Amino acid sequence: MTSGLPAFPEGFLWGVSTAAYQIEGAVDEDGRGRSVWDTFAHTPGRVRDGHTGDTACDHYHRWPEDLALLGGLGVGAYRFSIAWPRVQPGGSGAPNPRGLDFYDRLVDALLERGVEPVPTLYHWDLPQPLEDRGGWLDRDTAHRFAEYAALAAERLADRVGRWITLNEPLVHMAEGYAFGTHAPGRALLFDALPAGHHQLLGHGLAVAALRARGARQVMLTNNCTPVVPASDSAEDTAAAALYDAFHNRLFNDPVLLGSHPDLTAVGLPAEPPWIRDGDLETISAPLDALGVNYYNPTRVAAAAPGTGLPFDMVPIEGVPTTAFGWPVVPDGLHDLLTGLHLRYGPALPPILVTENGCSVEDTVDGDGRVRDTARIDYLDGHLRALHRAIADGVDVRGYFVWSLLDNFEWSDGYHQRFGLVHVDY
Ligand code: FCB
Repeated sequence: MTSGLPAFPEGFLWGVSTAAYQIEGAVDEDGRGRSVWDTFAHTPGRVRDGHTGDTACDHYHRWPEDLALLGGLGVGAYRFSIAWPRVQPGGSGAPNPRGLDFYDRLVDALLERGVEPVPTLYHWDLPQPLEDRGGWLDRDTAHRFAEYAALAAERLADRVGRWITLNEPLVHMAEGYAFGTHAPGRALLFDALPAGHHQLLGHGLAVAALRARGARQVMLTNNCTPVVPASDSAEDTAAAALYDAFHNRLFNDPVLLGSHPDLTAVGLPAEPPWIRDGDLETISAPLDALGVNYYNPTRVAAAAPGTGLPFDMVPIEGVPTTAFGWPVVPDGLHDLLTGLHLRYGPALPPILVTENGCSVEDTVDGDGRVRDTARIDYLDGHLRALHRAIADGVDVRGYFVWSLLDNFEWSDGYHQRFGLVHVDY
């Protein structure tokens, strides 16, 4: 056991996070439509060992048990995601009431337990019919997203005050559209950039739709990483700045500053044609908080030949790694938060850390317990780093662990255990 943590500010929100496709299962029930993740996971060779989210943690049926586990943790908030294909099976038009009923029951049960529901509207499960029309490469998907957001808020905003529009548009664009390692599995490299912009446009349109239907607080969650150059050389420093522009600034600058980072160094246009007049105003509608997901820093060197990328991600030496091989650098959370504070100044709203956690090869001991000391150490280190960032003046209002339960870890299937609660699959 580690010694007690320093005190966090009054009213600090403690929570845990999950996402629909990773836990729900029940993919064919109550009128749910197909999403890009159903298609991707059922395509041979896409997900390790052919795992799918068909059953996942069976949360769609076992949610009362899961909420009892959540209640036992003593957290004040639960971040889950609403599955768009349950609410609008075809991605547009009238809602599917049975899909909304599920989240309606969940919200009521959370409130009965005194746990604040914090839904994310989009955690990567695009309705397949929208992908068939171009997915996030098609500007119209942004409008469809705002329409879906309105339907969810019409049903739930009388009880749900705090809403997250998108989860990690960068990761969805990069893995889903640039490299093809996530659904929908497209490998377009820089031609994936419109999929990032259209997600942000969808976010901006949804902010207005949510507020018009009574949402009190609206946020976006970005995956952020502090970027460390591999050496002091001018080449590595320039490559690190470029990586920072793609990973962090491409998604934070439009939202917080209403501007777009300069990517002309890699031959991209100064005024990308997919960004239309007025888009940046829509995207930069004021937010009540920024959601930040942090897992690790990124060390970057000058481009390696043959990769097609203008930078090279290189290992961080001399630190422990998680089961996923991700470096464990608690100070990175401090550096990330103070860095955002410095970069955006008064344009930075309060921050909620909406995901942080690690995968561990947990084993169940003979007495039925999991002694996950590596996870405890990980969380202890990151909470201390978070506390230091707050002491240094960053306005952080909450922290959510990824994840409540072990779950379907995207293209790694059930191989990575991130849960505070162990799941016997
Ligand atoms: C984040 C995702 C989340 C989970 C964690 C490990 O990028 O938002 O769904 O997979 O990584």
